[in-house]
Amino acid sequence: MSDASRPIAILGGAGPAGTGVALRWARAGETVIIGSRDAQRAHNAAIEIKKRVGDQARISGMENAAACAAADILVLTVPFEGQAALLKQLKPAIRPGSILIDATVALAAGVGGRASRTLGVWQGSAAQQAAELVPKGVSVAAAFHNLSAELLNGDDALDCDVIVCSDDPNAAQLTRALANKIPGVRAIDGGKLENARILEQITALLIGLNIRHKGHGGIRITGLPPEAYR
Ligand SMILES: NC(=O)c1ccc[n+]([C@@H]2O[C@H](COP(=O)([O-])OP(=O)(O)OC[C@H]3O[C@@H](n4cnc5c(N)ncnc54)[C@H](OP(=O)(O)O)[C@@H]3O)[C@@H](O)[C@H]2O)c1
Repeated sequence: MSDASRPIAILGGAGPAGTGVALRWARAGETVIIGSRDAQRAHNAAIEIKKRVGDQARISGMENAAACAAADILVLTVPFEGQAALLKQLKPAIRPGSILIDATVALAAGVGGRASRTLGVWQGSAAQQAAELVPKGVSVAAAFHNLSAELLNGDDALDCDVIVCSDDPNAAQLTRALANKIPGVRAIDGGKLENARILEQITALLIGLNIRHKGHGGIRITGLPPEAYR
């Protein structure tokens, strides 16, 4: 289970996806560190979230490497085109035994294509690429790809399930516990990390649906026994 005093560092956390989960976890009483390539930008994003959550919010901002050094739960919310270089740069700062939760989607928009299409990734998915780049002993979980950043940054409960994929049951369990702290979200065990390729493709589909229907689509999985949603 997650422990509220155990900091969660969100790398690339000053962007929409990062601030969205940061806001929700700060509201849930978690200790959150916003990471950025620029310490001032991280600090500013943390101040904005504190203003919304209140003085009790445990949130700060740091440069990405400092954020890695200060936490052993890391969440990666950067564009795919920056993912590999950032992980290589941060490798020496990532603490042994850390858990990295990857939300990266390899959208074709990153290379001038459509946001409703994905790029082929040699390893199978952005999350599997991340798993190849983190230090030995660091577990990767894939999650949060299918949550709208716009809705996360709002005040209402979401209406969406978060499917979590990982080869490490402890990393998967911790990630599901964090997902369940977001109002309206149900976390579901999605099996091995290799299934991340499917989660990432669903995001491209959702982006296409959002463009076509002008909305903020999410997913709900129906028909599983109640214990699957805990
Ligand atoms: N937006 C959504 O609704 C959503 C939902 C689910 C998943 N995702 C995925 O989550 C990730 C982040 O989404 P986003 O919309 O927040 O993206 P974004 O705004 O494009 O980027 C997020 C942050 O990443 C950092 N960054 C940008 N380029 C970088 C690079 N080359 N190297 C290192 N850091 C870089 C920036 O922070 P600093 O400049 O402060 O370092 C930026 O604020 C993406 O992979 C996206 O596909 C997004």
